[in-house]
Amino acid sequence: MANSVTFATSINMSVIKYWGKRNEELVLPMNGSIGLTMDSEHLCAKTTIEINPEFKEDRIWLNGKEETMQNPRLQNCLREIKKRAQVPQQMVNWKIHIWSENNFPTAAGLASSAAGYACLTTALAKLYKIEGNISGIARFGSGSACRAAHGGFVRWYPGFDDLTGSDCISETIFPASHWPEMRILVVVVNDSKKKVSSIEGMTRTVQTSEFMKYRAEKISPKRIDQMLEAITNKDFEMFAELTNRDSNEMHGVCWAAYPPIFYNNDTTLGIIELIHLYNNAKGGHKVAYTVDAGPNATLFLLEKDVTEFLSILHHHFPIIEEVISEYFKGMPVGNIPAPQELLERIKYPTNKPGKLKYIIYTKVGDGPKQLPDC
Ligand code: DP6
Repeated sequence: MANSVTFATSINMSVIKYWGKRNEELVLPMNGSIGLTMDSEHLCAKTTIEINPEFKEDRIWLNGKEETMQNPRLQNCLREIKKRAQVPQQMVNWKIHIWSENNFPTAAGLASSAAGYACLTTALAKLYKIEGNISGIARFGSGSACRAAHGGFVRWYPGFDDLTGSDCISETIFPASHWPEMRILVVVVNDSKKKVSSIEGMTRTVQTSEFMKYRAEKISPKRIDQMLEAITNKDFEMFAELTNRDSNEMHGVCWAAYPPIFYNNDTTLGIIELIHLYNNAKGGHKVAYTVDAGPNATLFLLEKDVTEFLSILHHHFPIIEEVISEYFKGMPVGNIPAPQELLERIKYPTNKPGKLKYIIYTKVGDGPKQLPDC
């Protein structure tokens, strides 16, 4: 058996959002969520793990820099993995070395730790020969890692077992191939570290936001059912409205925390406003948006609408450095003129400058991939 494995995992962006824990220790969410795993080599965590009888101690390197192994989330993942290991006990006792890299901005609301923990757990499971659904282990690293452990359209169930969290897992509800026209634009507004971490933001929201319980109990379960229907029927109109509403409401719940938590900035709000104006001018939802715990927006749209929408976005937010894509190599965004008559119908206020750093154009992907050993 190989004592070393490497996996790569992209991020899973929620369209019905996870926000708030009912049990912080077991990382049990207050509500279920649904997300789409991306197929992006540009938003990817890569982890190599080796277990070796010669190693003297457990060690971890993140993006080339050695970090402490005493991170409680990392230790929780390792503990859960070792409990389920299917290799001889002597191997379980061997020390472990972990090399983890990611190529996207950390802590800017782009689910980097989720992809990192999903990748780590998948690699550990392979190494310790653990079969079956490992999303409940990834969850101990970061809640949303639970979804990133799978590909395609993924549902995370909050579960009922409050004692051990055994039924709090996720699964692929549809593979990436289910909706081949679906495209994703990750609009990076700012890649600096967010001011309030999701952990802290969730705790404060659960403790102080009057809207939190209402969202978790009254809104989310119904919305999950509607989202399942939208995805099953590939009904973009319905998918987009549900996605937009859920993102807005998650941020509404954060605004209602005390002190309030603001993850969006003026550019994020400008993008949201532009999307509503664009959809209105087109007579229906052509673009959906969602925003995590940071200012960056992730947009969903069908392939046929990408070029036109990018031209409109670029027209109003001109400081795009680059569109990075596996599918659209070197697309010169600046050279696509926005249709004049559409611009006239959109009427986005001209006095609102916005800065975009870059855009990543991708589609739905298949989840963690094993790579040849490096
Ligand atoms: C806004 O998974 O980062 O991205 O469980 O505390 O690690 P922890 O939180 P994290 O929460 C991210 C929440 C979100 C929405 C989502 O992914 O559904």
